[in-house]
Amino acid sequence: KHCIIIGAPVDSGKRRAGCLMGPDSYRTAGLGDALQDLGHSVKDMGNLTPANHQPESESTHLNQLNETISWTHRLIRIAEDSMEHGLPIFLGGDHALALGSVAGVANYAAKKKRPQFVLWLDAHSDFHTPQTTDSGNLHGTPLGYVTGRDGFTGFPAVTSPIPQENICILGLRSVDHAEREALQQTAIRFHDMRQIDETGISKPLTDFLAHVAEQNGLLHVSLDVDFLDPSIAPAVGTTVPGGATMREGHLVMELICDSGLMTSLDLVELNPFLDERGRTAQLMVDLAASALGRRVFDRPTRSFL
Ligand code: ARG
Ligand code: MN
Ligand code: MN
Ligand code: MN
Repeated sequence: KHCIIIGAPVDSGKRRAGCLMGPDSYRTAGLGDALQDLGHSVKDMGNLTPANHQPESESTHLNQLNETISWTHRLIRIAEDSMEHGLPIFLGGDHALALGSVAGVANYAAKKKRPQFVLWLDAHSDFHTPQTTDSGNLHGTPLGYVTGRDGFTGFPAVTSPIPQENICILGLRSVDHAEREALQQTAIRFHDMRQIDETGISKPLTDFLAHVAEQNGLLHVSLDVDFLDPSIAPAVGTTVPGGATMREGHLVMELICDSGLMTSLDLVELNPFLDERGRTAQLMVDLAASALGRRVFDRPTRSFL
């Protein structure tokens, strides 16, 4: 594969700062070398900046709306374009970056007349609209946006909405009331941690991957740090106990790799300011490596300095 690393230090999707350091933290943890060691070619595009934007208005409950809109414009274009050249890996940055990355890859899929699918690995459903969010944090809205929900005034129009039945969410354990009401009316496949405990994580995932393969779809994977249990991945502002284990995380990535379906990837919500000696950044890099071909027996044993 030709991996295109795109640093997207989006920090406008919530109030607590720090995700802007994410891209360099992944680089420091050795993402590029890990991918090259697996036989991929790697191009690092460096870090993007948002397009110029209006100063934030005080008269809205939405946090850093204009900056988020600006990032969305930038990311849609780069996502669309990078798909022509390889497999883009978006290094967040918070999950607001997925408003742009997913909308952009969907435009590319539409151009190629292939269906776009999205696997959302997250404690949260991120299915709010700017109207339904209580927190005003736009990192809680990307799935609402890319499915074409109303209310995203000021954002670029979503030209290729993702069909609800093309989305699978794994890892849920914190869903706001308004999101739940809305989600339950949709055809989105969503699986909370209780269900994952009962069936194992491979069952819902392999069912979804089979569906993607059957439709000859493109698959975008959006990995939020808080999908993982905070005991193994502390570097995120929105920790929720009861998340995926180390092996559940790797198994998901290994199954994705075996499927050969993944065409783009987001690594989001890492806040290096909250990390412990880089362990969360390292785990996210290891998970990306699993998604791109590293096997259990290839995993390097490492001494921690
Ligand atoms: N549902 C909450 C909110 O809307 C939390 C969203 C967390 N999203 C995330 N990408 N970490 O504020
Ligand atoms: Mn180009
Ligand atoms: Mn999220
Ligand atoms: Mn989350």
